Amino acid sequence: MTPVVESASLRFAEDVRHGLTSAPKSLPSKYFYDALGSMLFEAICLLPEYYLTRAEAEIFNTHADAIVDAARPDRLIELGSGSAMKTRILLDAVLRRRSHLEYVAIDISQSALESTAKALESEYPGLTVRRYHNDYLEGLTRLAKDSTARSSPGLPSTPDGRALALFLGSNIGNFEPAQARAFLQSIRAVLKPGDRLLLGTDLKKDATILEAAYDDALGVTAAFNLNLLARINRELAGDIAVRSFRHVAIYNEAAGRVEMHLQSRSRQTFTIGAIGLEVRMAEEETIHTESSHKFSPDEIAELARSADLAFETMWTDSARRFACSLLRVA
Ligand code: TRP
Repeated sequence: MTPVVESASLRFAEDVRHGLTSAPKSLPSKYFYDALGSMLFEAICLLPEYYLTRAEAEIFNTHADAIVDAARPDRLIELGSGSAMKTRILLDAVLRRRSHLEYVAIDISQSALESTAKALESEYPGLTVRRYHNDYLEGLTRLAKDSTARSSPGLPSTPDGRALALFLGSNIGNFEPAQARAFLQSIRAVLKPGDRLLLGTDLKKDATILEAAYDDALGVTAAFNLNLLARINRELAGDIAVRSFRHVAIYNEAAGRVEMHLQSRSRQTFTIGAIGLEVRMAEEETIHTESSHKFSPDEIAELARSADLAFETMWTDSARRFACSLLRVA
């Protein structure tokens, strides 16, 4: 048997080494989502400043029927299913029209994936849940392999039907623009003509509103960001003084993105025992952890086009803060 746990922590160790020995320093944001990080992110979604989740839920509450009527899915594939709170609105709409549906959940957080899958299976008798505990790309690769196997001659045929892929919460904004296009192409590659992708994107707006969404008064987003350092301490035998860092979120208007950093409050050195790494930081030096790109409607259409996806419909919330776009594989 492959030692899954060990290889995952080796990859974490290697990614941390790479990021902290680069100039400027960075850490990959997918490591935010350990058990504690996933719970902190759920808390972020409840914050008054973090309007994104509520705006996207408003779009679903208002337009779920239109979305489902346009996509007519036999299965949903969600990239980053998390707690699937908003997804339930779409599941309700689909299961008003048909008695059975397959839901493919791909998530990097084992704890979120298991609890969400169990909850959905008991809440929705008509739902078959398939779990992929993977990051997005691994999940898509495994899904493509499984779909090929299911349609192979000799095996009982299980036609996959029409898929609606979900990439919500403006997670696409966490990629750099070139990566975002490549990632949409990877999604497209596992879909068939007539399948759809529902893409959630945050819209460009006033810097004050954006910066508050990523630096809230209660400090939950700060805790979420700082948890990455605490995780390095826990899992890689680090001795980082978490309190010696502050959370920084700045809207870079020219680049159209909120940039998140961990900034050292002082000149310091820390070590990461598991990889025998000593890291020096100057006072005010930062570790970049995440960017969250914001889009204009034209930029969303252009991004879709660049990935060879046909732009069908865009819905926004009433305050036009957030957009959901239905894209079709031609
Ligand atoms: N996809 C979310 C977003 O860009 C992720 C997120 C929300 C996030 N708050 C964060 C990532 C704070 C890092 C730090 O809005």
